[in-house]
Amino acid sequence: MATPTKRLEGKVALITGASSGIGECATILFAQHGAKVIIADVQDERGQAVCDAIGSSNSIYVHCDVTSEEDVKTAIDTAITTYGKLDIMFNNAAVADPIKPHITDNEKSDFERVLNVNVTGVFLGMKHAARVMVPAKTGSIISTASVASNVGGVASHAYCGAKHAVVGLTKNLALELGQFGIRVNCLSPSGIATPLTTNAIGLDAESLEKFFSSLGNLNGVTLKTEDIAQAALFLASDEAKYISGQNLYIDGGFSIAASVNMFKLQ
Ligand SMILES: NC(=O)c1ccc[n+]([C@@H]2O[C@H](COP(=O)([O-])OP(=O)(O)OC[C@H]3O[C@@H](n4cnc5c(N)ncnc54)[C@H](O)[C@@H]3O)[C@@H](O)[C@H]2O)c1
Repeated sequence: MATPTKRLEGKVALITGASSGIGECATILFAQHGAKVIIADVQDERGQAVCDAIGSSNSIYVHCDVTSEEDVKTAIDTAITTYGKLDIMFNNAAVADPIKPHITDNEKSDFERVLNVNVTGVFLGMKHAARVMVPAKTGSIISTASVASNVGGVASHAYCGAKHAVVGLTKNLALELGQFGIRVNCLSPSGIATPLTTNAIGLDAESLEKFFSSLGNLNGVTLKTEDIAQAALFLASDEAKYISGQNLYIDGGFSIAASVNMFKLQ
């Protein structure tokens, strides 16, 4: 089968957390591959700038706090009213909190804040995407998990628990929606220099890239947002038509050989 140059021609994609980092990069790549994109985020100015860079005939920005069911519902409905359908839902928005030396240092309110965005936000995106995809009997739902969906010691308890939950939601929903021809997968990147990680870990972008590259198994390769965007493009495209219920690691082999324990660095 020849791979088309524009792999998402005629498709409509909604990306949450699309104002920055992985989401921004995936949104631009999806648009380059012919998709109409709905940019959903809480950073309005940055989101509008992504929209302006793509062009208003192929993209629209919607303010969407993924913890608000009303916002998520409105964003999905915007895809239908503006472009007539939704083929791809990319639940990518998340927050991270700093790693604390001991569980007793963790506040319940911080734990709930992370779970609310990183798990409830994904659940709501899945729910409302399914609402419009089931009648259409087609669709690809992708969520961004993390290597913390599999290994411990690389993130806070809240973030680690939340990303494990994203995999659980992905598997459960893949089994429910398979009967309607809808695929559900998630992506698990290793560390990349984006505002989420630089803020949570407290390193500048260059030091952070060096740190994560030193943990990786692949020598001489630095993970970039483009690498995750390319994996999302694959899962969104028809080239992945028989792939569902999977957690795709983009980590250079990190999670199969991990022995890091960041708690010991505190
Ligand atoms: N950067 C990494 O090292 C890394 C590694 C593994 C997984 N991830 C995951 O990748 C995804 C994207 O993160 P990133 O690294 O690009 O970070 P980022 O900070 O660049 O982007 C996150 C985006 O999510 C948005 N967001 C936050 N809360 C929101 C809310 N309530 N509603 C809507 N949008 C909200 C932010 O405004 C921001 O635009 C996240 O799911 C993150 O957990 C990142």
